[in-house]
Amino acid sequence: MSTTPAYAHEDAGSPPSFFPDYRSTVIRSPRLPLVRVPQTLTETTGPTGAWDRLMGPAAVDLTIQHAAPPLGQRIVVSGRVLDEQGRPVPNTVVEIWQANAAGRYIHSKDNWDAPLDPNFTGAGRVITDAEGRYRYVTIRPGAYPWGNHKNAWRPAHIHLSLLGPAFATRLVTQLYFPDDPLIEIDPIANAVPMPYRNRLVCRFDIATTVPNWALGYLFDIVLKGRDQTPFEDAHDH
Ligand SMILES: [Fe+2]
Repeated sequence: MSTTPAYAHEDAGSPPSFFPDYRSTVIRSPRLPLVRVPQTLTETTGPTGAWDRLMGPAAVDLTIQHAAPPLGQRIVVSGRVLDEQGRPVPNTVVEIWQANAAGRYIHSKDNWDAPLDPNFTGAGRVITDAEGRYRYVTIRPGAYPWGNHKNAWRPAHIHLSLLGPAFATRLVTQLYFPDDPLIEIDPIANAVPMPYRNRLVCRFDIATTVPNWALGYLFDIVLKGRDQTPFEDAHDH
């Protein structure tokens, strides 16, 4: 029995699966028309309230996971998670992963010539409150080179994954920083058409900035609908 999809990935702001400037999409994009698979009950519902049982407790400060603070500019990132109606999505998990201040991931396949930081793992998760708000502390990641084309560099970015109220609402995206000159020449960011690309850029906020401690940025995330935060690649960059 088919059901009407409650959550469809057809928003104008989503990047196309085939975007030749982003080289790996050439071989991994579908060659045949997509087949719509009806969503089942378990995809349109989720294990609300069970995040800590599934993933462990929240880890909202990526700068206190080791013996000493990591190198880099300490930042606070805060915002709200909203659904397609603009309603807050409470009690949902936001997973975070990122490179260190030098642009290096703690990953066996990341071997470019930048130092690892023994005081930075680059992974965390935060759960939204009753008003859909989240807040985490980290360091600003560095840019890093990648093999897409000659002299290709990724803008500084934080990877995010949200499950939302149901498994089918999962959103994987990236947060960029304002005034980063690499955004406009990055094929991954450019696969998201304007003006939707701007939704991937956080905003500096002096009210979120903590005196004598950390710069503050705001970043609201919309799971679905007209104002959806565009998907961004999570495979290997
Ligand atoms: Fe990355």
